[in-house]
Parts: sequence; structure tokens; C-alpha cells
Amino acid sequence: MVKALNNNVTKNLQRTGIRRFNELVAKVPGAIKLTVGEIDLPTPANTKLRGINAITENVTKYTPNAGDLELRTTISEYLAAHYHLNYSAKDEIIVTVGGSEAIDTSFRTILEPEDEIIIPAPCFPGYLGSGILSQSKIILVDTSSSDFKLTPEQLENSITDATKLVVLNYPNNPTGSILTTEELEALAKIIIKHDLYVLTDEMYATLVYDGIDIAPSIAAIDGMKERTIIVNGVSKSSSMTGWRVGYIATSAAIVEQALKVHQYAVASPASMAQKAAITALTTDFPETQKMAALFEHRRDVLVSYLSKLDLKFNRPVGAFYCFLDISEFGMDSWSFAEKMLYDYKLAVVPGNSFSEYGDNYVRLSFAVDEKIIVEAMKRLTAGVTELRKRNV
Ligand SMILES: Cc1ncc(COP(=O)(O)O)c(C=O)c1O
Repeated sequence: MVKALNNNVTKNLQRTGIRRFNELVAKVPGAIKLTVGEIDLPTPANTKLRGINAITENVTKYTPNAGDLELRTTISEYLAAHYHLNYSAKDEIIVTVGGSEAIDTSFRTILEPEDEIIIPAPCFPGYLGSGILSQSKIILVDTSSSDFKLTPEQLENSITDATKLVVLNYPNNPTGSILTTEELEALAKIIIKHDLYVLTDEMYATLVYDGIDIAPSIAAIDGMKERTIIVNGVSKSSSMTGWRVGYIATSAAIVEQALKVHQYAVASPASMAQKAAITALTTDFPETQKMAALFEHRRDVLVSYLSKLDLKFNRPVGAFYCFLDISEFGMDSWSFAEKMLYDYKLAVVPGNSFSEYGDNYVRLSFAVDEKIIVEAMKRLTAGVTELRKRNV
């Protein structure tokens, strides 16, 4: 008889709702997709060229496990320039295979089976998967009543003796919320009081609007650096999702242990992609800011249509997602998304892909051309009008 596979994987770990829904979308010709989680523009030209040149120059071998030292030095300088944070390139940074591996490696380094992780929800599904794989206990905190921001009260009420790690993701996927420095300071006080670790996922830090240059980091607050793991990368900021380069910045003590997990799992990301990331982090910042300006405009277009429709939504201040409240229609998020897909050829992500606390919502991405947003809004208007008539 064939022996059973790992029960934790076969039973507890599910494919993400986003992937499952995208399979349905692929079978509907002519569907307009507001489901995308990546920028619709190419990687900036200089960055692409650096990757091409790296291959031509035979940068095609292993790099150190912690990553190309030139890239780690660039990351260290980037964190100093944008956050006044000092991380040693040699001992406090690991280059990872995207933000995904940074999250997974951090979880597996820190968490033991009896530990509790606090995750504000709705949330990026990667935390749920890595949480299950680390066999720790996931404590979801519903932030839907506080503009999708974790409040000090919510945090304090969720902490037990078993709590070890708090996950923060601002700018947030799927809601576009960000936290101010004052809000981060209030959370930091509680985190220090209870002696917890924080993983701050800052993948969308540069995609921020309304006059903000870069989202603040909790690592920059006094007393936080040693207990904080910054997760970031170039996937979203430089439209490099396929290059697979992210990083962890944290204390030398955590890096020393995380490096073992990372070494056995991946050895290192691709050498030529790491060279391209150096250019992305040094010369692409103006490009990134141009992208942010374009996305802000698209956000405004989307938000003006949603407001005209008198729908409830969280006005995004960062990332490129808008979380639309569909509770007035009395449908769960999967049924609403299917209705829009099959009857109106409009694809949006069911909110329950981001935990059960997202089930009254759908996620609309504005990482698409303005014309697509306008057409999508026509289809949404028709769908919403039909549902409202039906519910009268
Ligand atoms: C909040 C958040 N963290 C991490 C990731 C993963 O990033 P990467 O593609 O670099 O693995 C994503 C991707 O969508 C994300 O939205």
C-alpha cells in the first residue's frame, strides 16, 4: 500500500482562493480582470539590462547563501536612506526568493508548534499557508470595523502567554490600508511590553498615495529593531514579480538562524536576478514614484465610480487594491464574484480568499489600464443595478 503523505499538507493546506478563482476566470472568454496582483508595466529598462548583462558576463553561478554582497550592501544603503535604519550587509540581511520565501523562512525560524501568531485579517494568504506549515496557531484579528488597521486594543486583547509573533502588512493587501507612525508607535508599545517579535511585510511600501513618499516602518521605532523582521523585495516596487528577489532585514541573532532554514530550502535566489535587483534599488526609485503617481490616478478613477454607485469601500492609501463591501447584496463573496464573472464578464477576487473575515467583500485591483477600469465599472454598474432591483 502507498504510504500517506503529510496530513498537515494534504488536509490543512489549501490552494489559495485567488488561484482557484482564476481557473474559473480563464474559462470565460472576454472576461475583464481586476484580479491581478502585479503591476501591468514592464520591469524598468535599466534593470532588465543589468540582468541581461549579468548573464553575458557569466554571473551564472551560486552566490553566498545570504545573497550577493553587493546587493546586500545596496539593501543596507536603501534602508538607511529611506528609513534611517542601520542594517549590516554582512550579518543582518538575507536575500530571499521573493517576499514569499522571506515570510516562510521567518516563520519557520521563529515559530514552534505551540506558538501563537497574531495576524490582522483579512490578510495576504501567504501568512496562512506558512502558518499552517510551521504548525503554529494562527490567531486572526478581524480589522473590518477599524478601517482594516490593527488597533492597540485589538492587539492587546489577542495576546496570550503563547503569543510569539505579530504580523503587520501595511500598505495592506487586500485592503490598501496603511498605518501612520503614531499608530505604529502605539502598537510598538504593546509589542515591547509583551516581548513579542514582529514580521512587517512592506512589499508595497513605495506604492503609496496622497502625498506620502514611503510608508513608515515599525522597525524604525525605538526598541523595535531587534525584535522586528522586515520583509521586502522588488516584486511590487519595480514590477519584478517574475525575477523572484526579496529580502529579510533583522537582527544578526535571527539572521544567523534564518540562514540555516534558507540554505536548506533554496541555497540562494538566481545570481543574475540579484544583480538586476541592485539596479532596481539604486536607480529605479524615480521610476517607482512615477508608477505610484500613475496608480494614484487609477485609484482616483476607480474610487469615483464606486462612490457614484453608492457602494461602501475602503479608500486605498497604498498598494493597488480596493476592498469593496458587498454585504448589502446578501451574498457571500464567492457567489457575488461568480455572478459578476458569469453574468457580466467581470473578474474580481472573492474576499474569503483573504480569510473568513473577508467574506463580505471582493478585491478589485487597479494595476490595470484606466480604459480597463472604466469598462469594468460599466459592468459592475450593470451587475449592481440588477442585484439592487432583485433585492427591493
Ligand atoms: C502582502 C504581500 N506579501 C508578500 C507577497 C509575495 O511577494 P513575492 O511575489 O515577492 O513573493 C505578496 C504578493 O502578492 C503580497 O501581496
